[in-house]
Amino acid sequence: MADNLYDFGMIGLGVMGSNLLLNMADHGFKVVGYDKNLAKTSAFEASATKGTIVKGVNTLPEMINLLQVPRKIMMLVPAGNPVDDVIADLIPLLQPGDIIIDGGNSHYIDTLKRITFLKEKKLHFMGIGISGGEEGARLGPSIMPGGDVEAYKEVEPILKAVAAKVNDVPCVAYLGNDAAGHYVKMVHNGIEYAIMQLISECYDILHNGAGIQNEELHTIFNNWNNGDMQSYLLEITSDIFKKKDDKSEGLLVDMILDKAGAKGTGKWTSEAALDLPEPIPTIDMAVMVRNLSALKEERVMATSLYKSFLKKIDLPKDQLINQLHDALYFATIVSYAQGLSLLTKASAMLKMEIPLSEVIRVWTGGCIIRSRLLNIFSSAFEKNTQLPNLLLDNEVAQKIQSKIDGLRNVVITATAADYPVNGLSATLNYFTTYCRDKLPTNLIQAQRDFFGSHTYERIDIPGVFHTNWEHDEQTVDHPSHH
Ligand code: 6PG
Repeated sequence: MADNLYDFGMIGLGVMGSNLLLNMADHGFKVVGYDKNLAKTSAFEASATKGTIVKGVNTLPEMINLLQVPRKIMMLVPAGNPVDDVIADLIPLLQPGDIIIDGGNSHYIDTLKRITFLKEKKLHFMGIGISGGEEGARLGPSIMPGGDVEAYKEVEPILKAVAAKVNDVPCVAYLGNDAAGHYVKMVHNGIEYAIMQLISECYDILHNGAGIQNEELHTIFNNWNNGDMQSYLLEITSDIFKKKDDKSEGLLVDMILDKAGAKGTGKWTSEAALDLPEPIPTIDMAVMVRNLSALKEERVMATSLYKSFLKKIDLPKDQLINQLHDALYFATIVSYAQGLSLLTKASAMLKMEIPLSEVIRVWTGGCIIRSRLLNIFSSAFEKNTQLPNLLLDNEVAQKIQSKIDGLRNVVITATAADYPVNGLSATLNYFTTYCRDKLPTNLIQAQRDFFGSHTYERIDIPGVFHTNWEHDEQTVDHPSHH
């Protein structure tokens, strides 16, 4: 009887859902996919590899009856209400012990609520982050599960089989309690936003600043991708500079409107970081620049209102390319450092117990932010699981120290020529602030105490002080010792 039943069910046969399911089938699992749309289920069945066991159904009860108990059902539907709608449809059909998995980019707070809600109904609910786009889903994504350990054990063999492999080890691991899976994926996306922003600034300087054309841009990014900062995002960037437009003469990249979309995960990362608080300005800036890019009409008006001072950047080409290489190298590492510092802080504050060294390992293959640069970090959290920031690791410091000059020079050159370098300069300022043992914040504390009696601490005597700033004599109220 059980032999006729299926191992895994998927709700939502969009590209991601069907590709992930076909990937499972290729690894010998019997899979069933549900979609209301008949065309989608037939297309899904038709695209299965010969000899694999793949079925498409158009009603939920059909799928439920076909699944082995405990049922393992993943949904890959847009975040928000669609997830709750699917859950509501599933509840009356399932039995205690069944497992519902949300594999989409849901907000971790929604995931937390759903875990509690479904626990009351004796159903397992897991939030799992999946990265790698369409191709990753089909050939091997990076998978970020968290939460219910019992449910994880049930699905672990399937996840391990389908995940990307690095040195034969699957890019999946249990990444912590509750909504840790979705939290880690959210931060992954925040880092994704940051690196994309940094790359676009390098492109601006090379293309508009130094007049380098697409063919050569392809070569530069390709060289970078073949070197010490090899990454998926550099690889696709280099490919983009080759793609011909099928609607006009030139290359497609030149015909794309400079107005970025966003589905929210970058913004959520910034919000979550502000809430803790943990500073992640490179990620914040990337979110902000997407928002600025969306104001296309206003930018056009402002361009004609204020004279543009854009200058040519006339550094020797090799020198500029080397500086940009180092700037991107350093700023990319700082982007990872910010994302990971957020995870460390969040893990402690929200009691998620996220194993940071495992997060780094899971990100080395299959996901959008996979990069050779992650190898630089791989041992930092093994040495110190509580490391608050990668920049404090001696080995990391030794490896990145020589690149800081590149970043500083690029920010100076670009700023002098009037090219915005929001991500690169936010990174430089974050770094120089982080590496400053004494900041001018004493003045801010004085101002706060002046206008609002907010008190301050002193550098010489422990305790909390308040001064009556408008009288000559120094009045120190209630120095209290901790
Ligand atoms: C991934 C991507 C994926 C999605 C982004 C896009 O890891 O595979 O991150 O999840 O493409 O969420 O996000 P925006 O539409 O917000 O750029």
